[in-house]
Amino acid sequence: MPTLKGKRVLVTGGAGFIGSHLVDRIIKEQIRSLCVVDNYFLGTNDNLNFASQNFPSLKIFKQDITNVEKIQTILRKENIDVVFNLAAIPLLTSLEKPVFTVNSIINSSMTFCELLRKKLFETLIHFSSSEVYGTAQYVPMDEKHPMEPCTPYAAAKAAADHLVLSYVKTFNIDASIVRPFNNYGPRQNKGDYAAIIPIVVQNILLKKPIIIYGDGRQTRDFIFVRDVADATIAIYNEPRARRKQINIAAGKETSVLDLVHTIVDIMHADTKIVYKPARQGDVRRHFADISLAKKLINFQPSTDIEQGLRETVEWYKNSL
Ligand SMILES: NC(=O)c1ccc[n+]([C@@H]2O[C@H](COP(=O)([O-])OP(=O)(O)OC[C@H]3O[C@@H](n4cnc5c(N)ncnc54)[C@H](O)[C@@H]3O)[C@@H](O)[C@H]2O)c1
Repeated sequence: MPTLKGKRVLVTGGAGFIGSHLVDRIIKEQIRSLCVVDNYFLGTNDNLNFASQNFPSLKIFKQDITNVEKIQTILRKENIDVVFNLAAIPLLTSLEKPVFTVNSIINSSMTFCELLRKKLFETLIHFSSSEVYGTAQYVPMDEKHPMEPCTPYAAAKAAADHLVLSYVKTFNIDASIVRPFNNYGPRQNKGDYAAIIPIVVQNILLKKPIIIYGDGRQTRDFIFVRDVADATIAIYNEPRARRKQINIAAGKETSVLDLVHTIVDIMHADTKIVYKPARQGDVRRHFADISLAKKLINFQPSTDIEQGLRETVEWYKNSL
């Protein structure tokens, strides 16, 4: 069974939300070396404080991963064995800047497909998104659910997955695709392009109204970020997970309205809720089938939503 022990590891998007939690998790694995590559489109150095303190040899490269030559140089110089590719421009940016977002997501995935084909490293663990499925055509949504992306971001993520799988089939690269549903937890970006949980918590803290787009009955499958980091390591460690796309989610459906009420209860808030028209490309329903992850890596999310939200709220309170 492969493990990360003794490996030289690179995490793209490591200064971002999920990437920084994955970095914190990887440093427990007796790795030989660890590098982060991030262009700081959204990430912050603060997200890497814990890792820098606990793994002082962590190297951070400020670099855009669409630049194949520069990434090739880093892979060579650092003798990288394993790449976790998490860097991506977020969904909301794709509504304003579709060409930039799509080019960036597709080209950055091509960087690692090509460099793995040329054997510059051994294994690629590539991050997909449940957004590739579009809105649920059936539930729970397994990995065979059709890909009907609703936004340019989702289409680019789907294209990136197809590219990785095509390189697996054509060039036999050693790769797996992790497909998380909606992540939440400490460090999720609360500035531009923020997702629903950071916005709701922040609005309550700042005594601003909570805005719900649409009727609030749209559903998501929320998963705590550290559970995703654990699952990602387990996927690397499991040879049967290679060449596969694997859903990672709680396997529970929560409406946006229920989510907002849970946060309001946790924060003892009496904040006003304001409804606005549904946002372009917002999927109606997401609810994951996680039986493949259960079968392959014995996946069992360990954080229930209330517990995870309490920790998340505390983090935002302390970081205002
Ligand atoms: N957050 C979620 O709910 C969620 C759900 C499913 C999948 N994902 C996927 O997980 C991954 C991480 O998402 P996140 O929520 O942590 O996002 P994030 O924006 O917090 O992190 C992404 C990081 O990548 C960096 N980045 C973006 N483009 C880059 C580029 N071309 N070169 C170098 N760095 C670049 C950003 O600066 C940022 O630090 C993404 O691939 C995303 O599609 C996220």
